[in-house]
Amino acid sequence: MEGWDYTTIIEPFRIKAVEPIPILSARERHRALASVAWNVFGLRADQVTIDLLTDSGTGAMSAAQWAALMDGDESYAGSRSFRRFEAVVQRITGLPHVFPVHQGRAAERIVAATELGPGRKVISNTHFDTTRANVEASGATAVDLPCERASAPDDPAAFKGDIDLGALEEALADPAVALVVMTLTNNALGGHPVSMGNLEAVSELCRDRGVPLFLDAARFAENAWFIHSRDPSYAAWPLHAIARRMFDLADGCMLSAKKDGIANIGGVLATRDPDQASRFRTELIIGEGFPTYGGLAGRDLEAIAVGLEEALDPAYLRYRTRSVAYFAEALASVGVPVVQPPGGHAVYIDAGALVPQIPSHAFPGVAVVNGLYLEGGVRGVEVGSLMFPGAALELVRLAVPRRVYTQSHVDYVVEVAARLVRRCPELPGYRVVQEPPALRHFTAELAPL
Ligand code: F0G
Repeated sequence: MEGWDYTTIIEPFRIKAVEPIPILSARERHRALASVAWNVFGLRADQVTIDLLTDSGTGAMSAAQWAALMDGDESYAGSRSFRRFEAVVQRITGLPHVFPVHQGRAAERIVAATELGPGRKVISNTHFDTTRANVEASGATAVDLPCERASAPDDPAAFKGDIDLGALEEALADPAVALVVMTLTNNALGGHPVSMGNLEAVSELCRDRGVPLFLDAARFAENAWFIHSRDPSYAAWPLHAIARRMFDLADGCMLSAKKDGIANIGGVLATRDPDQASRFRTELIIGEGFPTYGGLAGRDLEAIAVGLEEALDPAYLRYRTRSVAYFAEALASVGVPVVQPPGGHAVYIDAGALVPQIPSHAFPGVAVVNGLYLEGGVRGVEVGSLMFPGAALELVRLAVPRRVYTQSHVDYVVEVAARLVRRCPELPGYRVVQEPPALRHFTAELAPL
């Protein structure tokens, strides 16, 4: 899109396959939500009109990706599709040892099983919930050190995904620290990007202390776009070069290909260290499969190889980030407090500010999520005290699947939200009736108060 001097940013694609979406009455929505114990994770997809639960695995594949599927080589060992996948990952990341995994959390599990254990510590700008669960399942401790500005929803700073460098330096004095993970972008805390300057400083500290630095690179392309568009010193850099610079600062990465890989399933684990690679390989074979397919079909590897390249297309990223910003601006204009500045994959509503009468222990985020569903069949996700007990912010994430919804879908969600705003004073809080021991937000049973 070089030379695009129009203020309207258009979808740089046209639509060739469509899928109907269900429209339910208010009474049907009420019945549906009550029947799944007031937890939207329990809803059937055919009970949801606009599904903003996640941007993970929900993207629309391109014609080129569908074509590549047909060329999948399903050989158990040495598949041609693996070599394509490996070459693309190596070209983007520069990391020599590349393993396919069935999704991001499989990479996390392998890292936790081989590199962590009781008494060890992992430091992050913020662990995503599955990353934290895998670290803790190994017996290690997960420590989050987000920068202070990350917890100020109105602060418009460009790179609120940064880690607190002073706190990191102090934490690294502890020899128990086995790994530092930088989550790009910081999904658990507003979807904010990490700056190149912060990554450089983290990389230097880690090298000094001999602690490996891994990127949780699920949204590496969106992070690269924000560095390009918000940091003037990278304005002239091609996105590939920015992404490469990010990975050059790290020792390895875990990457869920269901996000910026624009694939419906899949992930990547990669490292620079050959000894670590052999530990990963052994664990991969036990849990995922032979290293040239790693829990995926050959056709999945093809779709990911094409998707990872498409995700770095500047026309796509300009449209992607502009459409999320449009969504955030429109919500703000109808009185919905949204976290500033908008990130790349989602709009985060400050539910604590929207329903101030509901205290944290009654889950303001759940009240807003359920309100949006009851009002218009829109499904979002709570990212607050239910997902992260003791969370600093009570957020609701409306994640935007890649290349799936049009501007009028977004306009409809904004109209639903505007109606909800008028009803906010009457919204009930919720209590937990039943919950599992880990990752409770997925399956907890709730009841309105
Ligand atoms: N890291 C980040 C930053 C993520 O957002 C996710 C998944 C994972 C790791 C795990 O990857 O799902 O492929 O196993 N996030 C999804 C979401 C589920 O809705 O944000 P996975």
